Amino acid sequence: MASAIPEPAAWVDVAPAGDVPRGEHRVYEVDGRFVAVYNVQDELYAIEDVCTHDGNPLSDGPVEGTEVICTRHGARFCLRTGAALTPPAYEPVPCHAVRERDGRLEVGAP
Ligand code: FES
Repeated sequence: MASAIPEPAAWVDVAPAGDVPRGEHRVYEVDGRFVAVYNVQDELYAIEDVCTHDGNPLSDGPVEGTEVICTRHGARFCLRTGAALTPPAYEPVPCHAVRERDGRLEVGAP
């Protein structure tokens, strides 16, 4: 399954399909950026693994529904859109398209 992000210009092969089990997440390097792929109820979401408040890795934080919470100062981000939902973060986190195709997990290039 893929997120609702528009089709990217290129896809980057990051892992075998099924590498991110339901309820878990993994971080991959995609063209020099760290991207966290989350599996929420078998829907995949991919956001860059950096809090826009002060750079903490978002993948350290807990997930509630389709929101991830930064462990450093508690900002929440939407996994669907990357939007910053609560202070002290105000800028969105870049999202990436993500899909499983032909037995591989692919993330849209930045
Ligand atoms: S670094 Fe994430 S909320 Fe401050």
